[in-house]
This record gives sequence, C-alpha cells and structure tokens, in this order.
Amino acid sequence: MSRLVIDGMKRLRGETTIQGSKNSALPILAATLLCGDESVLFNCPDLLDVAGSINILRYLGCDVDFSDGTLTCNSRGLDRSHIPDSLMREMRSSIIFLGALLARTGSASMCFPGGCEIGPRPIDLHLNALSEMGAVIENDHGVFQCHAPDGLNGAKIALSFPSVGATENIMICASIADGTTVITNAAREPEICDLADYLNSCGARISGAGEGTVVIDGVEKLHGTHHAIIPDRIVASTVMAACASAGGKVCLNGIIPSHLGGVISVVEESGCDISIENNTLTVASNKRLIAPRVVRTMPYPGFPTDAQAPIMAMTAKSKGTALFIENIFENRYLHVSSLLRMGANIKVEGKVAVVQGVESLHGAEVEAMDLRGAASLIVAALGAEGETTLAGLKYLDRGYENIEVVLSSLGGEVKRV
Ligand code: EPZ
Repeated sequence: MSRLVIDGMKRLRGETTIQGSKNSALPILAATLLCGDESVLFNCPDLLDVAGSINILRYLGCDVDFSDGTLTCNSRGLDRSHIPDSLMREMRSSIIFLGALLARTGSASMCFPGGCEIGPRPIDLHLNALSEMGAVIENDHGVFQCHAPDGLNGAKIALSFPSVGATENIMICASIADGTTVITNAAREPEICDLADYLNSCGARISGAGEGTVVIDGVEKLHGTHHAIIPDRIVASTVMAACASAGGKVCLNGIIPSHLGGVISVVEESGCDISIENNTLTVASNKRLIAPRVVRTMPYPGFPTDAQAPIMAMTAKSKGTALFIENIFENRYLHVSSLLRMGANIKVEGKVAVVQGVESLHGAEVEAMDLRGAASLIVAALGAEGETTLAGLKYLDRGYENIEVVLSSLGGEVKRV
C-alpha cells in the first residue's frame, strides 16, 4: 500500500500548470457514446476515474486510446447497453453514462451507484427527468433497466435542486431527442458549459449553459470532434490552499480565473495576496493567516463543496475562528479526525464545522477517507512541523494527477513510497 511522506514547513515557490478538469472529462467521455464517431479530447487528466471511464467505454465496444493527455474515443462499435456491477463500483460517478447509453441505443441498465464516502448520492433527479423524456425505468433488485424503444422526446424539466450530474445527463440525452428540452434550475458549474461546448461542436444545439435555464433543440445525429478540456478549478483551489498553508509564492498557469471566484475571495480574506494576469494566478502567503469568518458551500457560482476540505486545512493554523457550513453533501467532514490528530482544533455539529485556529500543526500518521479529504491532509501536512505519512492514496489518485510531483517541483518535500 503506497503512502505519501511529507516533511512540512517548506515554503513553496515557482510555477505549475493546472491539470485538466476531472469533473469535465467524465461527462464528456460519457457523451462520446452519442457520436458513433471518433472524438479527440486534449488536456485530459490521467486519473483513476478517467481509467474507470475508459474501462466502461471499452466494455461497451468503443475504441479508446489515451496517451500524454490526449484521449481518442471512437464509439462506432458500441454494441452493449449494460454496465456490469464491477465497472460501476470502480467509478462512483458512472451514472453519467446512463443518458448517453439510453439516447444512443434505446436502452441502458446498470446497478444503482449506491452511496459513497461523502453521502448517499441519490439519483432520483436523473431518473425522474429521463422518465419525463419518455424513458421507461424498472428497478429489478437494485439493477435499473431503462428503455426508450421509440427514442426520447424533448420535455420541460424543472430540477428541484441544481444537480450537476442530473443537468449533464439531461443535456446529453436531449441532444438527440425528438424536440426541444428546457431545463430550469439547471446547474451552472463551468463543467456544464464545457460539456455544452463539446456537444455543440459535435453538432448539438444547446443554449443557456452556465445560466439557470438551458435549452436543447434535439438533432438527428452527432458527429465526432476535437475538444480541449477546461482546467480543474478544484485542483487549482487545492494548490492555492497548499501555498497558503506552507507559505511562499506560487504561479498557477493555464487556469480560468472566472471559475475560481468563490475560492479566491476566501483565500484573499485569509490574508494571502492574489494577482491575476490572463490565465495565470499568483498566490503569495508570507504571514500567519487570518481565519475567514464563514465558508458556506453552495452550487456554482458559490463556494464549491469540493474545495471545502482543502480550504479547511489551510485555516487550521490561522488566527481566529472560521465557520464552515457544508450545504451540499451529508458527510463531507471525514478529514476532520485526521486534522485533529495533527493538532487542529475543530468541532463538527451536523453540517457546521467550527475551526479554532491554532499556532501550529504537527506531522502524524493519517489516512484519507475520501478524495478531497486526501487533498486536505496534504495541505495540512505541508504546514505542519515534522513528518506526516498519508495512507489512502486510492482516493487521492481518483482526482489528482501526480500531486506529489507538482508539490515537489514547487519546493515541497512530498514523496510517494
Ligand atoms: C458532481 O457530483 C461532482 N462530481 C462532485 O465532485 C461535486 O461535489 C458535485 O457535482 C457538486 O458540485 C462529478 O462531476 C463527477 P450533484 P454530482 O448531483 O453530480 C443531491 C469531487 O470531489 N442529489 O450536484 O453527484 C446529492 O445527494 C466530486 O470531484 C439528489 O438529491 O453532484 C447532493 O446532496 C464529489 N438527487 C446534491 O444533490 C439526485 O438525483 C449535489 O449533487 C442527484 C443529486
């Protein structure tokens, strides 16, 4: 079982280019099923979740090549519409394949994705929307079968919550449905816009992505395309938090500043200097941080839930008290117990966590319990005195491409053993 060994209190300096977005790559990989043609994706991150998606695409009959950040997928040979349990378990967010499979083949079956570390992950919004578009869905002992033998029809879908995955599944299905689909209370995340850009370049007719109402005029058929995936705003947020925690000055290249609004304001409130020039953000931290008063996770453009754990780690040594309110997932404080082992002072009550800043953290043997929690422990370890050993890298590697290489190149002492 490999681990990261981190020797803390080394200031970070230098520059790094932020990897492609995991949460943009995954829905776009699913959407390649619609084309029956070859798509080439640039800036695709090399992650366990991407590998899981590739396994599903190959199982379904697609030809997939992936090397050096460029992924080519040809879904002409698609000849299955069932995703086996073993592949579903490997990739939590495989529900995103549902819409594409159903739209392209007229049927789709897979087991309920089930909960994961951070919460139950229901899919009611996905299933209700697909049935509004004409899908027939049966639950056969935990495996659900979806059929749309006469194809899917456009529908007006009002989401009770701006679910990212549900918005993505509907956009994917509606691209080749018969008629127009209007999604109200749609998710506005940048990954939604990137998926719409990919689909439109395949010949879809989607407007309003990134706003609350998305309109999709169904077309007969989509063709393949070339598409560059947007940078990962959560990895960028994590590197910012790492620099704030360890101290120093780091340039993040290849980012889209407008995607980072919610996080930049919290990092600046904590006393860091941030400057932006085109697609480069420079963050500098040269004194003890000041606790941000309240960090409330919200759907985009609010503060992103995925950045809550790394940013909490950054505030552990700050002066004052920070209040975190996790509004999106039910169980997203799994990193707190390990932060306490490192000397942090945090009290959790339901969706609220109160972080009382301490003077210093010390290294410890800790274990990650989820993806962003793993990132949180790395951020804390970089600002802790002494050595930290981090286990549970299978979570980290789902979303971060060679994070130890990135941090070492910036002067951090981070080794994978
Ligand atoms: C996406 O998950 C991301 N994953 C998550 O990132 C991210 O935290 C989340 O959006 C919110 O931004 C991918 O894009 C692969 P949701 P998703 O549907 O689509 C409830 C990471 O760390 N809900 O917006 O699953 C749900 O329980 C991951 O990279 C329903 O009730 O998020 C949750 O409380 C973690 N019914 C809330 O909505 C549904 O049918 C937000 O979920 C669907 C969701």
